[in-house]
Amino acid sequence: MKYNIAQPSFLGNEKKYLIDTIDSGWISSIGAYIEKFEKEFAACHNMKHAVATHNGTIALHLALAACGVHEGDEVIVPDLTFIATANSVQYCRAIPVLTDVSLNDWNIDPEEIRQNITPRTKAIIPVHLYGNPARMDEILSIANENNLFVIEDCAEALGAISPSGKVGASGHISCFSFFGNKIITTGEGGMCITNDDELAERMRILRDHGMNRQKKYWYDHLGFNYRMTNMQAAVGLAQLERLGDLLAMRDRIYDSYKEALQTQPQFIFQDTHGNRNVNWIFTIRMEGITEDQRDAVMLDLKQQSIDTRPVFYPIHDMPFYSNEKYSGKFKHSIIISREGISLPTYIGLSDDDIQYISGTLIGSFEKLTA
Ligand SMILES: Cc1ncc(COP(=O)(O)O)c(C=O)c1O
Repeated sequence: MKYNIAQPSFLGNEKKYLIDTIDSGWISSIGAYIEKFEKEFAACHNMKHAVATHNGTIALHLALAACGVHEGDEVIVPDLTFIATANSVQYCRAIPVLTDVSLNDWNIDPEEIRQNITPRTKAIIPVHLYGNPARMDEILSIANENNLFVIEDCAEALGAISPSGKVGASGHISCFSFFGNKIITTGEGGMCITNDDELAERMRILRDHGMNRQKKYWYDHLGFNYRMTNMQAAVGLAQLERLGDLLAMRDRIYDSYKEALQTQPQFIFQDTHGNRNVNWIFTIRMEGITEDQRDAVMLDLKQQSIDTRPVFYPIHDMPFYSNEKYSGKFKHSIIISREGISLPTYIGLSDDDIQYISGTLIGSFEKLTA
């Protein structure tokens, strides 16, 4: 494949810091890079605490567990997201309450959230899908009115900015992913940030098997091994040093795709409401296309060496989430999922590459939907 959907960019101190961990022998979950990475990550969001984890999925689980979410509690999550958002709720034996998204920004719809609140609701997990900030002002005021935790799923949105500030800086806890295709990567990796001293302390204890912080090998709680390694943190720190450049390059890719694709009136872009979308993976809706036609377009592009992805399938469609009560409930997640296609987005794509990919997409779309 000439154009992958994503690929990491290691142009800074990644190798140097990684070798340093090997030379020092500190390769597991104790080491100076973990502390540095956590400190810098918290500072970059103006938050008091950052707790590094082994991946983004368990960052979400850790956050929910620290907030005391347990069996029978309900947690409101978008129907259109990566599966981990909903699964993390199930890991607590709580109930994910799938909620429709807005057709314009593809993020959880605050009005739908209001309708799904019950006396058992404990938390809301807004997701900033494809790097586009959710409507945090409205979500935070709903949470305040109803005394709910807000756990932001920022897995795809490091560096995005909404009117409430930097994405991740306004919820009780916010969770990030550093998987290989993310804005910055540590291979596998995740982070929880918070301003709440108690929640941070609980996350640190639960991340380390529930071990008492003063008494080694004494466990007051059932915890997990969710720790990040010093090797992951070494790569993460080097990536974070380059965050500004990485975001600027993603902005350029976003602008080039938008300019090249807006000539086709059936191509619809995520509405950013004027916020800073970090263009995790450039994704559009091809209005009116069927799922079969969309898949045919993807295949056609693959044959021309361009890798693409469908938008996530609605969670309610998964066999272990499907439930009669969802019938007819979701209008927008279904449309966005059916019509959506993600295009190669990574540092190193030139304007010429983007022109080529966009031209090929327009050609395939017109040929296969004629
Ligand atoms: C919205 C969202 N939430 C959670 C995750 C889970 O992160 P990880 O793959 O690091 O476990 C991802 C990762 O792909 C994601 O896109």
